[in-house]
Amino acid sequence: MKSHTRKFIGVIVGLSVLALAAGVFVWSGLYNIGADDPHFRPTYAILETLRDRSIETRAAKLEIPDLSDPAKITQGAGNYNAMCIGCHLSPGMADSELSKGLYPAPPNLSTEVVKPEHAFWVIKHGIKASGMPAWGKSMGDDYIWNMAAFLQKLPSLDAAEYKAMIAQSSGHSHGGGETGAHEHSHSEGEAQHDDDGQDGGHAGSGLDEHADKHEMHPQSDEGKSSGDTDAMPSAPEAHEQSEVAASESDKTGEELMTKHRHADGTLESHPVKPTDPANDGHKH
Ligand code: HEC
Repeated sequence: MKSHTRKFIGVIVGLSVLALAAGVFVWSGLYNIGADDPHFRPTYAILETLRDRSIETRAAKLEIPDLSDPAKITQGAGNYNAMCIGCHLSPGMADSELSKGLYPAPPNLSTEVVKPEHAFWVIKHGIKASGMPAWGKSMGDDYIWNMAAFLQKLPSLDAAEYKAMIAQSSGHSHGGGETGAHEHSHSEGEAQHDDDGQDGGHAGSGLDEHADKHEMHPQSDEGKSSGDTDAMPSAPEAHEQSEVAASESDKTGEELMTKHRHADGTLESHPVKPTDPANDGHKH
């Protein structure tokens, strides 16, 4: 009996010391919260397991609708191109400032297949303390399933097939909240995902390169015609030119206007507002 009591007190004291040490550690500021300072391997493994188990447990309860309708897949493609490539990339895109800078890193969804129910759950609810937003706060389930359906196709598409599908899609459309073709809220980030193709490679980057990039379109449109431009008014050029512009962009710093091209080919320019790159101007 006595030894039991002693053991019990020992455990309580031990736990209190641990709790105190944890408190001191938290308060001390010793922990480096920087996204450029990776977790220790065991910490990472624990967090990864925590995330995977949490998602799998919830995703398993979902009823998966029919995801084979090509019209729905194409609809999902338009939204993916407008909202996701800055972090999750698209065929032919090596990386972006966001994909490089985020920790945990966003998976490259143009090479990695994610099960539809897993994708749906993550897109709808997001992932805490990571860059992955909860899109369900602004988007209905049907639209989210369409994106999950598109994600099943995405890794099998090459850059040309991807662009063709985006050109066929209705762009950024999920039934409310998104900015329409001529109703953009004009902020810097807007230029990162035009309705006209994939130029999200420089998402969230400096203001000047957007202006720069779009100024290059007019001269380049003729010389570059690759046969499929009739079907896709501006998507292929938009992407190719963005690569070139990116390398030159650092040299210009004085542009105060940015321009972007709409799906119908019209070029719009507006003053650049320095905004948080995470707030891309699309109000969902
Ligand atoms: C600001 C960057 C960002 C944007 C924009 C973003 N994501 Fe993510 N996403 C992430 C990050 C970071 C993770 C990984 C989080 C983690 O590992 O804990 C992630 C994870 C995911 C996953 C889970 C992948 C897996 O293997 O578990 C899916 C699916 C996904 N995102 C889909 C999307 C879709 C679809 C969109 C567009 C509607 C989107 N994301 C927009 C940052 C982003």
